[in-house]
Formats: sequence, structure tokens, C-alpha cells
Amino acid sequence: MRLMQLIYASRPFGFSGDTLDDILMTARRRNRADGITGALICRNDLFMQMLEGPRSKVTATFGRILRDDRHIEVTLLWCGDAPFRSFPDWDMLEDPARSWMWNREEVRAGAPGAASAEEARRAFARIASEPREGAASG
Ligand SMILES: Cc1cc2nc3c(=O)[nH]c(=O)nc-3n(C[C@H](O)[C@H](O)[C@H](O)COP(=O)(O)O)c2cc1C
Repeated sequence: MRLMQLIYASRPFGFSGDTLDDILMTARRRNRADGITGALICRNDLFMQMLEGPRSKVTATFGRILRDDRHIEVTLLWCGDAPFRSFPDWDMLEDPARSWMWNREEVRAGAPGAASAEEARRAFARIASEPREGAASG
């Protein structure tokens, strides 16, 4: 099996705690079945997500995510083969942008869509390297 990683950024549309709970619940259930792991950085002005898993599953999942009307301006930042998973224990880790690198003004000015693939990968590498309490898939 070829392992693929994909990172995109988008802008939440109609963001609320309930919406986010619903997104995460569906994401984790589907990802568990599909062998997908990853992390979702979420703030009310920003989504940035890494998906990793079998190429066909990541492609299909991203296809559904692209059609989801709970966010807009979906921009693909990186997609490629990966030698190993960055989030092997997480059906979808939620990162409330604690470790995030753009402030609201920069996000408003379009920084996420302009990020390089390298910047995007560095952000998730940093999140993956942070110590966490236990493994949890939610
Ligand atoms: C920001 C965001 C992240 C999402 N992440 C995932 C995910 O990791 N896996 C997944 O299966 N669906 C994810 N979804 C939900 C999909 O867009 C879609 O609603 C879900 O897969 C069910 O698709 P279906 O209704 O066509 O069966 C996400 C949606 C949003 C808005």
C-alpha cells in the first residue's frame, strides 16, 4: 500500500461548536473505517487539515471534503507519498490552533492559501511532535 499525505487549508462557513463536533464525529468514524489518520487545526477563521492513508481513500475523502458546504475556499497545499504516518494513533486529532503560526489578520489577508508546501508540512510536524495525554481517537 502506498501511503499518501495531503494538506489543505479552508475557511469555515457557519462555524460553531456543534458544527465542529459533528465534523469531527463523522471524520473519525469514516477515517477509522478507511485507514485514514491525521489532524485538523481549527479556529473560527481557519481550518487546516492533514489526511494520511491509502492513496485511494485519501483521494475519495478529499473529494467529499471539497463538496462540503461547511467551509469555503479550500486550497490544496501539499499532496504526496509519505514514508510513514505523522499521526498514527489519531483518527483525527483536533488542534485548536494553540500552536498556530498565523494571527487573525494574516488569515484574513489570505496567508493560509499562500503557504508553501514546506510551511504546511512544518506546521503539522510541529503538532505531531508535541507531547500529548494518551492516544485518543475520540
Ligand atoms: C473541515 C472538515 C474536515 C473534514 N474531515 C473529514 C475527514 O477527515 N474524514 C471524513 O471522512 N470526512 C471529513 N469531513 C466530512 C466530509 O466533508 C463529509 O461530510 C463526510 O465524509 C461524509 O460524507 P457523505 O455525507 O458524502 O457520506 C470533513 C469536513 C470538513 C468541513
